[in-house]
Amino acid sequence: MAKFQAPKGVSEYVPDRSNYFEYVRSTLIESARNSGYQLIELPVFEDTELFTRGVGESTDVVRKEMYTFEDRGGRSITLRPEGTAGVMRAVIEHNLDRGQLPVKVFYSGAFFRAERPQAGRYRQFYQVGIEAIGLSDPLIDVEVIAVADRAFKALGLRKYHLEITSLGDLLTRENYLKDLRSYIEELPLDEETRTRASLNPLRLFDDKRSEIRELMQKAPVLMNYLTEESRADFESVKSLLKRLGIAFSVNERMVRGLDYYTGTAFEFVHSELGAQSGIGGGGRYDGLMEQLGGQNLSGIGFGLGIDRVLLACEAEGIAVPENEKLDLYIVPLGTGDESLIIAEELRSRGLRVDLAFGERALKGAMKAADKSGAKYSLVLGADELSSDVVSLKEMNSGESESVTLSSLATTLIEKISNLGEHS
Ligand code: HAM
Repeated sequence: MAKFQAPKGVSEYVPDRSNYFEYVRSTLIESARNSGYQLIELPVFEDTELFTRGVGESTDVVRKEMYTFEDRGGRSITLRPEGTAGVMRAVIEHNLDRGQLPVKVFYSGAFFRAERPQAGRYRQFYQVGIEAIGLSDPLIDVEVIAVADRAFKALGLRKYHLEITSLGDLLTRENYLKDLRSYIEELPLDEETRTRASLNPLRLFDDKRSEIRELMQKAPVLMNYLTEESRADFESVKSLLKRLGIAFSVNERMVRGLDYYTGTAFEFVHSELGAQSGIGGGGRYDGLMEQLGGQNLSGIGFGLGIDRVLLACEAEGIAVPENEKLDLYIVPLGTGDESLIIAEELRSRGLRVDLAFGERALKGAMKAADKSGAKYSLVLGADELSSDVVSLKEMNSGESESVTLSSLATTLIEKISNLGEHS
């Protein structure tokens, strides 16, 4: 029978690399939790219209990349291509916007876009995202950016930079789009491109074709149309980022791939990832809540691509820290039952413990201990059991010391907390 394979272009993580994935994800989440963001756990599928209305009909995401299907009740359902529209739907549905503002939430999970797969671009990929809804203030813009920056720094990443821009408020947009449309009207465009531009002229800045890029070189730049208020907000964002020591550059021509953005928008770009260099991005969205049937409140957030952050960590040679690994690996020699009982006891004390299963020769079992990456190992044979003393081996140094079985848990806990202090 032919072997099954995962569908084309999905990312998946199996041991050992899955440990690395888990470490990256939890570090990104930790930064959000540190700043008071709380978990929001939402369905991976929603009504299709939520995305067509929320993300925007002119975007590649909606036009070409959605996994849309009819469910058994004849409803049009779409696998979520991004997280913000769903969060907004839930905030409105559960009246979270009637309580304390801003609503600060984080999420983590799988997202789906039918893109052409390549390194760092997948059809199922993973994001950690945050949204702060109900406050329009440069302070929260900077907080959101700082959460991402702090997460990347906590992972030890260095070869990334932050690009920011302001897409202005709704009035800025109106004035700017008027001029941009007139500019585009004069361009020699094919029918499809013209249709796309009529839905959202900003999309032409996103076009990969060199002839279109060239034509757009001389197009008016949004930054020159910012209202006084938008300009002042943007200045505040920049000066606060500087005070926090978060380096950035202003990219006047940044176009985000989703339509809901207004005001501050940003992208984190990693220099070692080739074409798919965006490790995270986000921005403010003034009109989204109203667009989805809620009140008129603004919000800001980001999505960080866990897959790409992981690739970036690997490219920079960042290793999973010691304390993420196993504490102890037990090699039983004919003492399966007792070994499992000891392992369970240690586990219930909060230690991470694994053991060799099956009747294996000592050599093979020691290899498994090495491979497990555990900090310590011990062999448990009949002699150790009868003498109540084991030889606890520190795997890095290869040094061993004798420990009584009854003091094993306390000794290990002490040793490991000392390791933590020194690492
Ligand atoms: P986005 O820029 O479309 O924004 O995606 C955020 C991040 O997800 C990207 O920077 C990238 O790292 C990752 N990503 C996107 N598509 C793929 C893919 N096909 N394969 C692998 N990684 C990918 C959003 O999704 C917005 N919802 C972010 C946001 C939240 N804006 C405001 N709030």
